[in-house]
Amino acid sequence: MTCQTVRVDLPGRAYDILIGVGLLADAGALIAPHLRRKRVAIITDETVAGLHLATLQASLDAAGIAHSALALPSGEATKGWEQFSRAVEWILTEKIERSDLVIALGGGVIGDLVGFAAAVVRRGVRFVQIPTTLLAQVDSSVGGKTGINTDQGKNLVGAFHQPTLVLADTGLLATLPPRDFLAGYGEVVKYGLLGDAAFFEWLEVNGPDIAAGDIDKRNYAVRRSCEMKAEIVMRDETEQGDRALLNLGHTFCHALEAATGYSSLLLHGEGVAIGCALAFETSARLGLCSQEEPSRVHAHLSAMGMKVDLKDIPGDLPNADALLALMAQDKKVLDGKLRFIMARGIGEAFVTSDVPSDVVRGLLAEELARR
Ligand code: NAD
Ligand code: GLY
Repeated sequence: MTCQTVRVDLPGRAYDILIGVGLLADAGALIAPHLRRKRVAIITDETVAGLHLATLQASLDAAGIAHSALALPSGEATKGWEQFSRAVEWILTEKIERSDLVIALGGGVIGDLVGFAAAVVRRGVRFVQIPTTLLAQVDSSVGGKTGINTDQGKNLVGAFHQPTLVLADTGLLATLPPRDFLAGYGEVVKYGLLGDAAFFEWLEVNGPDIAAGDIDKRNYAVRRSCEMKAEIVMRDETEQGDRALLNLGHTFCHALEAATGYSSLLLHGEGVAIGCALAFETSARLGLCSQEEPSRVHAHLSAMGMKVDLKDIPGDLPNADALLALMAQDKKVLDGKLRFIMARGIGEAFVTSDVPSDVVRGLLAEELARR
């Protein structure tokens, strides 16, 4: 097993993200140095349990680490109060102590929920992220944002709680359904769009190979994404400034996810891709960048076979005013004003409150009329 390391160098809570094929089979040996006693609790989802839990358990056995596991239902609906309390109660029943480790084995749903459970049990136990989706490997497992959804909106209850270690085994992506893979690719593209034009250019050329399974290119895409996220998180862990850049496309995305009931009509990463396209289109309409930039974003996402317009979302959508009202729940709202991530070009995103809602409403209305 060869792997690459990205360090998230936060004072007092620095950790490594290991990236490579075969890390799950070595997880026991990699986790052992972080343990005070040889005991861990694993939380996963039912789909991932069927595919990958046995490999993790065998590696823990090989390292002499005792373990127990809880598998929650798969899917975004799990990321709510009901399964959260179930996870918290289970960790307590398992008598996991503060210095023990909880392992989150799964996609962003499991990582966010388990991270939040670890943040609150005994006022904070340590946890290891073993992300199994592309989205989780490039984004949700890194940076310590944890939480759950409520009836009022997405990720509105949570905590910053950094993991102790992240093991991104890119070999696990082989079992990921193509739709989930492409949804994760939406977050990869986001990094190029927000701050690295050369990476976006590389993705325009290599995206099809990445989707087809080229492991070296997958490893590079995951590593570059993690490097970019780590740099931003190290500058601004709790989102007082720059970290909001990671939310490129998310104001639109969160409204669309709420409008589709957090259902399989729209996966989070699909919403991010559509949101990025809308953010670039809004930027062009505001005269911040040339029309060539949103056209290029649109062309790459379409070439990858991704959802890119509101017309690509099945089912009903509310009107533009209702979508704007959903955006008002966004965590970036400051003094009642929506803040957006806009762009002066590919790789040149910035945060602003200066986006007239008429422009956003007009764009959404046009897009809705095309459905
Ligand atoms: P997910 O966790 O629901 O996983 C998607 C599907 O893939 C699930 O059905 C899961 O069972 C299945 N799956 C996972 N790994 C698999 C594998 N290796 N093989 C086969 N199937 C597999 O969704 P996701 O897209 O990973 O994450 C979305 C969530 O992440 C959202 O709730 C979003 O809000 C959150 N998120 C959080 C952050 C953060 O910084 N904390 C960042 C981005 C997204
Ligand atoms: N995914 C956004 C963040 O971690 O800040």
